[in-house]
Order: sequence, then C-alpha cells, then structure tokens
Amino acid sequence: MIRVESLEKTYPSRKGHPAVKAVDGISFSVQEGELLGFLGPNGAGKTTTVKMLCGLIKPNSGQIFINGIDLVHRRIPALAEVSAVLEGNRNIYWRLTPRENLEFFAALRGQSPARLRADIDHYLERFNLGEKRDVEARKLSRGMQQKLAIAVALISQSKVVLLDEPTLGLDVQASYEIRQLLTEIVKEQGRTIILTTHDMNVVQDTCQRVIIVNEGKIVADDSVHNLLDLFRVRVYSITIQGQLTPSQRASLLAMEGVVMEEESPDRTSISVRLEDSQILYEVIGILESNHSIIESIDQDQNNFERVFLEIVKGGSQGA
Ligand SMILES: Nc1ncnc2c1ncn2[C@@H]1O[C@H](COP(=O)(O)OP(=O)(O)OP(=O)(O)O)[C@@H](O)[C@H]1O
Ligand SMILES: [Mg+2]
Repeated sequence: MIRVESLEKTYPSRKGHPAVKAVDGISFSVQEGELLGFLGPNGAGKTTTVKMLCGLIKPNSGQIFINGIDLVHRRIPALAEVSAVLEGNRNIYWRLTPRENLEFFAALRGQSPARLRADIDHYLERFNLGEKRDVEARKLSRGMQQKLAIAVALISQSKVVLLDEPTLGLDVQASYEIRQLLTEIVKEQGRTIILTTHDMNVVQDTCQRVIIVNEGKIVADDSVHNLLDLFRVRVYSITIQGQLTPSQRASLLAMEGVVMEEESPDRTSISVRLEDSQILYEVIGILESNHSIIESIDQDQNNFERVFLEIVKGGSQGA
C-alpha cells in the first residue's frame, strides 16, 4: 500500500541556521492492513517523513508510491488515498462541532449525504463523542479533540491513514481509549496506518511492526515481537530466608552476572542476569546444597522501552 524508495529531505539553510538533512535515504514498504509504528528520538525525521507521505512537503530525492501511484508525479490521485493527522489535532475546525467537522471533511472527499449520516453517527458513537456532537470543538477536552481529529481522518475512507503522535499529551485513560480504537479499526476495516509516537505503550499495544529512525536513517525495521526477543535481557531476583554460607556466597559471586542485592540476618536477595537459562539452575543448585529456603524468584519484565533505548543508544543528542 505504501512504498518509499531512497527518500531524502534537506531543509535549506536560513538566517544563520545551517541546512538540516532531516531524512537521509530511507526505504520501506507497508502492506495493506498493517499498523506500523514509526519511532525515533526527537529530531529523527519522523514528522518530516509523514509530511512527505501526505504531500505537505516535497522530497529532494527518492520516490513514494501510495497504492502503486507515484506521489511525486501523480499527486492528486495518490493523495486521494491518504488522510493524515499532524501534531495531534490541527486538522479540525475549532468553531465547528464534532458533527459539523465530520460532515465538512467527509463532503470535501466527495462522500454521498446518505452514506454520510450513517458514518457520522457511527464515528461519534464509536469515539464516545455522541454527547458532545453539537459542542464547538474548541470547547472539548484535548483527548476529545484528538479523538475527533482521528475520526475526521477515518471518515474520508482513505486507504492510508497517517497519525503523527496521536496520543501526545493525553492522560492514561484517553491514550488507552485511542489505542483500543486504532487496534479495532485496523482489524475491522483493513486500513493501512502509520503512526509516530514516543509512547511505548502505544507500540506494545497496537503495532505489529516498527521502524526506528535515528538521524534520518532507519536503524531497525522488524516486528515488535522479534525486537523484544532480540533484546531479551532476563534478570531474575532470588530471595532466600536467612543468610548464605561463606562457600555459597563465594560460588555465587564468582558466577558471571550474579550480584548481591540485599543481605540481612533474615533475608538475602541476589540478582542474576542470564544469557541462557542453565545459569539459573546452577544458582538454584548452589542454594539447595545448603537447604536454603527460597522465598521468591521474580523475573524482571523486558519491555519495548528498553529495546528502543538500546537501539538508538548514543545516536542522537536530542533525545
Ligand atoms: N521546517 C523546518 N525547517 C528547518 N528544519 C526543520 C524543519 N522541520 C524540521 N526540521 C529539522 O529536521 C529534523 C527532523 O525533524 P522532524 O520534525 O522530522 O523530527 P521528529 O522525528 O518528528 O521529531 P519529534 O520526535 O521531536 O517530533 C530536525 O533536526 C528538525 O530540527
Ligand atoms: Mg515529530
């Protein structure tokens, strides 16, 4: 549905500011029905890429195909397939109500009035905006405005939807609601969505695949599942009653990845960082050799935030 080839964008120098190569030769494809997370530290080139994909700015070089149509040379037919929400909620009219916003933007895209009415009701209900359907958008909460902005993008029926930081500045509840909606919409409607975000909960909940950019270049393009696997760091915390014997203590601390967390007459905790699970059995063996009573073994969760930091480590100062 989307194919990008060697895309480059340099913002020219202005008033003493040097030119900035914001996007430095990136290539990727997105299949129909895919929800792709586009991640990277501040200034990595995410918004610039999204703006090129929705025709707001022109690449210096490279190609963009939307549903097979060349965006640079056949702009109008290509853009008919795309809708976008930039910077959260700028694509709605503040003086119009949710209902009027949806009507206006759907009509712009040439939707028939009959179909329109049903669609508007559907999205108002779906996005929990029914009660506020006749309240001016500027009087809605930020979360509601952001939901309305996404609804406006969806009602155009475009195959491709680009969302730049859809959950920026939202509270936990509103962010969760948007995540749920996006997941459902991809499943039901087979839309192709690219979203940029700094919110790793959004990534873990909604995206099957992510592209990570850093300084204008792609540094990872893989499934969330694979990336989590690739960077799996398992750390176990083991707590026993009482103290270790001197020989247990010596054998454990001699092992790579074992550190003492807490030692008191009542309780001893050690932390074990392991590359393969065999090490855990050896540790337990040493503890059992003196009949130590194990109180608990906890595995620390690996999460996408750790993966992300690992991948972009040392890259950008802006992060
Ligand atoms: N209109 C512009 N003129 C000049 N430079 C720009 C312009 N827009 C962005 N840049 C620069 O291009 C680089 C990429 O910016 P971009 O907004 O694409 O990053 P981003 O990945 O979206 O970052 P963030 O996570 O902060 O939103 C940055 O160095 C930025 O300062
Ligand atoms: Mg941005």
